[in-house]
Amino acid sequence: MRIVTSIAAMQRLARQWQRAGNRIGLVPTMGYLHAGHLSLADRARQLVGKTGKVVVSIYVNPTQFGPKEDFSVYPRDLAGDAAKLESAGAELLFAPETAGMYLPGDATRVRVGLLTDTLCGPFRPGHFEGVTTVVAKLFGLAGPCVGVFGKKDYQQLVLRRMVADLFLPVEIVGHPLVREADGLAMSSRNAYLSAADRVRALGLVKGLRAGYTLFDAGERSAAILERAVRTEVQAGADTIDYVSVVDADSLQPVEFAGERALIAIACRVGGTRLIDNVVLGEDPRASLR
Ligand code: PAJ
Repeated sequence: MRIVTSIAAMQRLARQWQRAGNRIGLVPTMGYLHAGHLSLADRARQLVGKTGKVVVSIYVNPTQFGPKEDFSVYPRDLAGDAAKLESAGAELLFAPETAGMYLPGDATRVRVGLLTDTLCGPFRPGHFEGVTTVVAKLFGLAGPCVGVFGKKDYQQLVLRRMVADLFLPVEIVGHPLVREADGLAMSSRNAYLSAADRVRALGLVKGLRAGYTLFDAGERSAAILERAVRTEVQAGADTIDYVSVVDADSLQPVEFAGERALIAIACRVGGTRLIDNVVLGEDPRASLR
């Protein structure tokens, strides 16, 4: 596996692969990799085939963090990550310097409206603009035909809207959320949790289970589902940003949970902001363990 830190080298390699007819699959990450990230790299391999090239980027993107958020302390372990990706069979790890992705005089931002006005949007002003901007840059540099993203960060699938609206020749693939054995959604930020917080964090998945169980029993009222989820989340969380039942495509609140409704949660346990979600009727109940 090659490790590339230079923007120019990434561009050169991507053009070379494209000319040779190799399909490129890109998995953007902020590093501190876990099995959820590695499952995206496996998916990318399946999508581009043996002759394709799997590129995993590791870049803690400053523009998607708010001024009081955890940019400076975000966990980093480039050597450990490189070893994991080597075993996962990626061709390239792209790890640009922090300043490298934003040129002197940088003045361009990509903003997707509407879909970013709900859920995490109001709680993290500027966050999604940072995400869509950096992913647009990564697409420009690595020239993938497919980008693989986890449904853990369900709202990041606004990237589908971005590639459609900007006519970018990339397919966005959403990959299932990977959980720990006890159901906690894997996240690099779980490293912040104390042993006691780690136990309290199970409130999120317990909430999703409670919601799914009611849904399976025929309950469709979003208000009733939300109340059941919130009760479980509240037992572990210090503060709740939201517990919402929304349409899985428009991300707008619904009164009744239909065929594909998303239950999404964001809350704080200790100082750590955690998110989790399930798509009722699409993700199997068993995926919550
Ligand atoms: P990061 O949080 O490192 O996540 C990178 C990718 O891994 C995202 O697509 C995310 O949804 C996916 N992922 C994280 N935890 C997962 C889990 N438990 N199961 C499945 N997939 C999981 O998301 C970002 O970085 C950044 O915002 C990024 C897209 C790289 C832009 O900077």
